[in-house]
Amino acid sequence: MIIDGKKVALSLLEELETKIKALEKKPGLAVILANDDYSSKIYVDSKEKHSIALGIKSCVYRFDKTITQGKLIQLIHELNENPEINGILVQLPLYSHLNEKEILELINPKKDVDGFHPVNVGKLYAGLNPYAVCCTPKGIVKLLKAYSIEIEGKDVLVIGRSNIVGKPVASLLINENATVTLAHSKTKNLKNHCKRADIIISATGHPNLVTSDMVKKGAVVIDVGISRQGCGRLIGDVDFEKVKDIASFITPVPGGVGPMTIACLMENTYELYLLQNKR
Ligand code: GUN
Repeated sequence: MIIDGKKVALSLLEELETKIKALEKKPGLAVILANDDYSSKIYVDSKEKHSIALGIKSCVYRFDKTITQGKLIQLIHELNENPEINGILVQLPLYSHLNEKEILELINPKKDVDGFHPVNVGKLYAGLNPYAVCCTPKGIVKLLKAYSIEIEGKDVLVIGRSNIVGKPVASLLINENATVTLAHSKTKNLKNHCKRADIIISATGHPNLVTSDMVKKGAVVIDVGISRQGCGRLIGDVDFEKVKDIASFITPVPGGVGPMTIACLMENTYELYLLQNKR
């Protein structure tokens, strides 16, 4: 069965739109784009479009290469203090002259809509409630639940150890009582790990890394990879055409995990608004 991320995301967005309409004020999301990467520009445009459609106030700051670390630090301080802004997102990567770690640590953890601040990373790791959970991992767990795919007790293989997807999704799934293996570029015998897994989550950006001979019959395959082919077409990490005949559930690229990431970003903005406007 092909998992329809667009459909699940749409129903989450519709629920959110209703809840946001009922609020006293508009939630505010600030997005900072300080790189010249084409994909990042597309993602940021899409975040802006979705915010506006839902009634979220969107403030996008687009910078060219002349932006300095000092200016960016000042902007983060201003956004932390601005009561109209409930979520702050710094699109990664940043230009190479900027210090990403310093910037992320300056964001108020209660406005950290991406869940990248060490306080939120630590809360997630410790099984405590983070103020916000990273959007892609949160979206993956929502997709599994939307299709009633059992997580508890399952052998899950996560491929890729990034701070954005691999590590946080492993933590989330451990909190959901899965048995999680985290594989990465130095893992030996990836195929053996894959063959054992009930659920495979691949987040590497290497096209065709997961092939049909690596997947157990009936396994669930979640493809988080996004690579742009020469012709501009997007493809994932998984050999979709062949693996779809072996897997019980599989996500396509595009139209699988991607739409859930955006929907969860909108949900995190709404939830941070509620947190900051608690009476
Ligand atoms: N770059 C790639 N994915 C993401 C994401 O989910 N959030 C941010 N801030 N930057 C990214």
